[in-house]
Amino acid sequence: MTNTTAAQRVSVIGLGAMGTALAKALLAGGHEVTVWNRTPARAEALVADGAKVAASSAEAMAAADLVILCVLDDAAVREHIEPAAARLRGRTVVNLTTTTPEQARSLGVWAETEGIELVDGGIMAVPEMIGGPGAFVLYSGAAVAFERYRSVLELFGRAEFVGNDPGAAAMYDVSILGGMYAMFAAFAQGGAMVRTTGGSAAQLAALMAPFLQAMATLLAAQAPGIDTPAEFVQVQSDEFTAAAIDLIDTAAVESGNPTELYGVLRRALTGL
Ligand SMILES: NC(=O)c1ccc[n+]([C@@H]2O[C@H](COP(=O)([O-])OP(=O)(O)OC[C@H]3O[C@@H](n4cnc5c(N)ncnc54)[C@H](OP(=O)(O)O)[C@@H]3O)[C@@H](O)[C@H]2O)c1
Repeated sequence: MTNTTAAQRVSVIGLGAMGTALAKALLAGGHEVTVWNRTPARAEALVADGAKVAASSAEAMAAADLVILCVLDDAAVREHIEPAAARLRGRTVVNLTTTTPEQARSLGVWAETEGIELVDGGIMAVPEMIGGPGAFVLYSGAAVAFERYRSVLELFGRAEFVGNDPGAAAMYDVSILGGMYAMFAAFAQGGAMVRTTGGSAAQLAALMAPFLQAMATLLAAQAPGIDTPAEFVQVQSDEFTAAAIDLIDTAAVESGNPTELYGVLRRALTGL
């Protein structure tokens, strides 16, 4: 087994905003980092930080035991990884490119066939947060490979392994982002509504943020309703929740604002 306390040979393929942040974190962590980017200037910019620049993605993949991909999408991953299959055999690939769960699963099947250990990842941070206390990254797939390189991956932020299914990290990723977008949509709608009273979205933000933080602590108590519904005793009835959402819907109508959001929430939360 590789000794992860020692400097590792790591390659980073893709040096956009995120890939550059990942490569810098690895260099700051003392690892031997080889980089490649389709537009070479972005790779050259990392030489001063100690990175070696590969002439091709295939060369970068051959230069390391741990290969990290962070390109635009699944198509770009496939474009570079498939022709390099023979060079990657026996190595670990961590794909931090955002993909759908099904794309991650399909890549996992391909990797297994080729004798490559695939760990798929979902980055829950913006590039500026990489290596900082608020960043975390979801991982799934080859558990043994993840554990082998855990200390390297922890340079990016907290490392959370969420399952052996290679699609799991992407599924948790999109689910968390779904929660974020639902919150932003409700804030946008609420901001427009309070402005009809002479209020402001800024004041709403100040009042809404601590309330939502308190509500977020209740998510864990809701989980059994989804995980083990047969045993779950619901505190608030669907009728109560539907009536509460109808009241918000009426306030939207009265203030001349759209109501689609509340219809969707009502159906999703109560099925009524
Ligand atoms: N930025 C974030 O906040 C964030 C957060 C979580 C996850 N992510 C994910 O991280 C990945 C990279 O994001 P980013 O922010 O670094 O994006 P970005 O700044 O737009 O960079 C995209 C990268 O993909 C490369 N690329 C695109 N098509 C390619 C191809 N066909 N072959 C080789 N390279 C190709 C680009 O190369 P060129 O330089 O040559 O164009 C560039 O290095 C995405 O999947 C994104 O969803 C980003």
